[in-house]
Amino acid sequence: MSTILPIDAARLWARLQAMAEIGATPDGGVDRPCLSPEDSRARALLARWARARGFGVSVDPIGNLFITRAGRAEGPAILTGSHMDSQPSGGRFDGIYGVLAGLEVLEALEDHGIETARPVELVAWTNEEGARYQPGCMGSMVYAGKRSLEFCVDVVDGHGIRFGDALASTLAALPDASPRDGAPRPLAYIEAHIEQGPVLEQAGVPIGIVSGIQGVRWFEITVLGTSAHAGTTPREFRRDALRTSIELMAALQEALNDPADRLRFTIGRVEVSPNVPNTIAGRVAFTVDLRHMDRGTLRHAGEWVHQICECAAGPCQISVEELFAADPCRFDPAIIDTIDRAAVSLGLERLALPSGAFHDALFLADIVPTAMIFIPCAGGVSHHPSESATPEHVADGCRVLAQAIIELAG
Ligand code: GLV
Ligand code: MN
Ligand code: MN
Repeated sequence: MSTILPIDAARLWARLQAMAEIGATPDGGVDRPCLSPEDSRARALLARWARARGFGVSVDPIGNLFITRAGRAEGPAILTGSHMDSQPSGGRFDGIYGVLAGLEVLEALEDHGIETARPVELVAWTNEEGARYQPGCMGSMVYAGKRSLEFCVDVVDGHGIRFGDALASTLAALPDASPRDGAPRPLAYIEAHIEQGPVLEQAGVPIGIVSGIQGVRWFEITVLGTSAHAGTTPREFRRDALRTSIELMAALQEALNDPADRLRFTIGRVEVSPNVPNTIAGRVAFTVDLRHMDRGTLRHAGEWVHQICECAAGPCQISVEELFAADPCRFDPAIIDTIDRAAVSLGLERLALPSGAFHDALFLADIVPTAMIFIPCAGGVSHHPSESATPEHVADGCRVLAQAIIELAG
């Protein structure tokens, strides 16, 4: 095993605090939508920190931002990273922790004058959250060849702004990042992240060695009725899109209720039109998010969504669009072993666990040997302003990342 690379835990913590200022909300959280002015500011700050250390800064056509520390030889790099966009009611650690832990590894290598055989690269993926533009993980999916850039540019947000236009403004705000093309595929990808669940905290263990990620399917269900006067329209003439939606939501919830709590079912967004008290809703659109570790069960659950919507009775027209689908993945055993060895060499207790949340690593795992490191977060809470992690756990996760990268980068 390689010697221990000391990281600067205070610098990493200070950088997390500085990034949390960008898009800070009054309740202590972060709202940094992808490709927003806040996202641009976060990118500019990351690029400034990177340039101050002489690292290369480059950007690919979908805006994935790469920071490169050269190795003794050119060629495929060891890649680490995560995302800088947040949920609208997001916290201070989801995504940005993996980016800044990666930057800390590059800086620690620089501080100690350690040359690696291979380049070490950090990436901040574009639009992991999928909160402003659906689906999530656009940057990593395009990188991995799972979606086309052409598909992504035409997606619009809730205000009708095209992804392509927001991307152009974001790229224009970072004019001196070099365009990245033709870079060889990395040799390995490791992503550090807060767990976003309660397992590590409850076990009192500082490091999670992530075995894989559960699969996900997102649907948007649109119910079309007719808007009409709330006081004068008799029941027989009503085509009430909200009433039909409520019944449909209840039917879906009941059919997809898993007593073992392994299938996760969420209706997270409901849009009602015209959304006023005294007019019957003419149109409702709502989303369904399904997660499961087993591919077959997830596929079957998705079929249920289609069937229940097709069979729904009533006067409204119902359509279902699948917005996002990814099979569960298992991470690479060799990279998992490398992370495990790194934790052991640091004397840190660790626990193997799957990820309930999706991450860019889900798509990287298709093309590159990939694994993830988790650290505990308070109460397992995430996608909420109160999301928090201790400075000790933040530093421990970064130390494990550093050791694993040193071993892989030679
Ligand atoms: C990622 O943010 C997810 O929804 O799992
Ligand atoms: Mn995340
Ligand atoms: Mn998230």
